[in-house]
This record gives sequence, structure tokens and C-alpha cells, in this order.
Amino acid sequence: MLFRSWAQTADAHWPDVARVPDHVGVEHLVVTRHALVRQVLTDPVTYRPDNALDAVTPVPVAALRVLAGHRFRLPPTLANNGGDSHPQIRAVVADALHPTRVAAQRPWLTALVRERLAAVGAALDAGAPVDLHAELAADLPLLVLARLVELPDAPVGAVKEFARAALELFWAPLDADRQAVLAAEVGRFHRVLREFAATGGGLAGSLRAAGHPPDVVVGALFFLLVAGQETTSQFLTLLLHRLAGEPAVRAGLRAGTVAAADVVEEGLRLEPPIVTWRRVATVDTTLGGTAVPAGSSIVLWLARAGRDPAAVAAPDEFRPGQRGSRRHLAFGAGAHRCVGDQLARMEAAVVVGETAPLLDEVTVVRAPWCPDNLTFRMPDAFVVRRG
Ligand code: HEM
Repeated sequence: MLFRSWAQTADAHWPDVARVPDHVGVEHLVVTRHALVRQVLTDPVTYRPDNALDAVTPVPVAALRVLAGHRFRLPPTLANNGGDSHPQIRAVVADALHPTRVAAQRPWLTALVRERLAAVGAALDAGAPVDLHAELAADLPLLVLARLVELPDAPVGAVKEFARAALELFWAPLDADRQAVLAAEVGRFHRVLREFAATGGGLAGSLRAAGHPPDVVVGALFFLLVAGQETTSQFLTLLLHRLAGEPAVRAGLRAGTVAAADVVEEGLRLEPPIVTWRRVATVDTTLGGTAVPAGSSIVLWLARAGRDPAAVAAPDEFRPGQRGSRRHLAFGAGAHRCVGDQLARMEAAVVVGETAPLLDEVTVVRAPWCPDNLTFRMPDAFVVRRG
């Protein structure tokens, strides 16, 4: 269940807190109810974020050697930092992603999406199938992020490969051969980040100026390059696919009775790209009546919490603006709540608004396929054709 959890979000038969062993025999406490997920996220004393980026398949010595060869280190910086340095690091990142800076990117992104859609339309007119993931979703978030936060001068393809390798290395069930390949990919890019962290401007420069050591600058860039673009890419693809199957919602968008922003919220609730997120219990405690020993891995089932009937009126239906629609926990909650939420929302609203009319004129050739992963959906493609 753990690695394909999105497939069971609507399954009625789940206790509030379930004990689920993983593929290597480690037991996790899977939290399924909105109120309990929120309780854990907002209680940093009982539940720390230290395990947020731990590899779910233990990394074997051979792959560790590969990482060590690249001098790979990932000290607590943002999502996995429950320490005193977290608020300061977060504040510098939040400045770079301030809502006014995000809003300023909207016209540029809208123009780029229109340009892309013109090319997509021409290809469809010529009878060709088009992969909307590749043409629209895959690189747009990275291009916007690069405008907000100075990034290493690496080709888009290299950053995407690194980010997806990191998501697989830390969150997928893997064998040792694959781990060695992924470790090499992640390690190589870590080296690029280390050089950039030492000399780069933008966010890297601000973190250095605030007195953060090189390891912390690398850690922040590492996390941002993964969390700040791959998540939104995945979400755009999942949302466009969902919207392709929701003609009434598209009709509402056309008629102006449904707002793109509400479609985005309902998308985050029903199709979150991050399906689970982890915490670790610091003390013996109880959660929803279940005993939680200190040290337990807590898997917060964000996707399931979004469908909790206690939080939303029609949990399994895509109804933009319905009561409870915005109460999803797709961005987490509490001290570590996503700092990129406004950026992701802006990007998704632009893409939905501009792309919805095209979805009226196409049929789906190939739905997205998602690999086994504890946390990230990672859709691979979404192919449509005219007609
Ligand atoms: C749809 C897209 C996205 C989703 C679903 C998402 C989801 C999340 C989640 C679940 C967390 C953990 C929250 C917690 O522990 O309570 C998180 C943290 C974070 N996200 Fe996002 N995220 C998205 C996009 C972005 C973007 C675009 C950026 C930046 C450009 C970003 C930057 C971050 C950062 C820096 C953190 C760590 C915050 C901290 O620990 O203080 N995310 N995100």
C-alpha cells in the first residue's frame, strides 16, 4: 500500500492510524484522518521533522561510497530541520518567494504558456499526438524558479534528471544497482551545487550574507531545486489530466462561473503531487487512541486527509469552491508549511486558465503513469490528440 498510496485514497476501510510495514520490514504509523494529520504537523515538540528526507530504502555501502566520493552531505536545513537555525533559513527563502515577487512573474509566465500552447495547437492540428507533460508541465516551474532565485547555470534537462533521481533515491523501493546509479547522478549535481553555493548570487548570496555555512547553503539549494519545481511540474500534469475528465468544470471555467484558483485548490485536495509526508515521534505518546512509541516513523497521508468527510462536503467529487475545498493539507501545516505555496498556486492557475479550452478539443491517448514512491507521484507523460 505504502508506495502506491494514491490508488487507495478513496478506499473506505482504513483505521484512523494504521500500522503498515514497508518493503524492508520497518513499521510506519500511517495517519489517515485530517484532524490527526494536522495535529501531528502542528505539534513540533511531540513530532519532529528530522526524518523528512531519510531514504526509505536504506542506502547500501556501495552507494554511500559513491555519495561520499562526491562529498555529498545533506545537513538539516529546511524540511528536515527541527533546530534553532530553521526560522532564519526559512525567512531568507520566504523573502525570495514573497507573494509580490511571485505575482510579478505572472505576465511573463502567461505569455510563455500562450506561446507553448500555440505550438501544441499547431502540432495537434497537424494530427500529431502531444505530450502535455513534456510540452507544458515539465520545465515551466523550473524556468519561473530560475527567475525568482538565481540558480546554477545548468541545462534544464540536467536539473530535471537530478531532481527526479533524488526523489527516487530517497523515497522509492529500490535495489542496490539502481541505488548506485541514482547516487552517482545525485552526487554529481551536488558537486555543481557546492560550487554555486560558494560563489553564486541571489538566494545563495543572501544565505551566505546571513552567516549560514556552505553546507546549509547547499542543503537549501538542493531542497529548493527539488521541492521548488518538480512538485509543481507533477501537479500540473495530474491536474490537467483530471481536468480532461471533468467537462462540467471546464464548462464552468468557460462560462466564468468557476474560478481557476478554485480549480487549483480542488486539484491540490484530490490530486496532490505529494501524497504522504513524514515526522518522527520524540516521546511515547498516543494518537487517535493508538499508542505511539518514541522513535516511530509517522507517515501522514496528506492525499487521504484531503478526502476526509469530516473536512469536506463531497470528498470524492471535483467541485471547485465546495465547502472544505481549501482545507486540504497538500502544503503541510505548522512551522514547516510549504513556503512555495503561492508560487505553485500562481503557476497552476495560469496553466489551468490558459489550457482548459484546449482540453475541450482533445482526447486522451495515454494517461500519466506513476512509479512506486512513498511520497511523490512523479507522472511520466500525458499524451493527447485532436478529436
Ligand atoms: C504543488 C506544489 C507543491 C506542493 C504540493 C508542496 C508541498 C509541500 C509539503 C507537503 C511540504 C512539507 C510541509 C510540512 O512539513 O508541513 C513542503 C515544504 C516546502 N516546500 Fe513545498 N510544495 C510545492 C511547491 C513548492 C514550491 C514551488 C516551492 C519553492 C519554490 C516549495 C518550497 C518548499 C520549501 C522550501 C519547504 C520546506 C519549508 C520548511 O521546512 O520550512 N514548494 N512543500
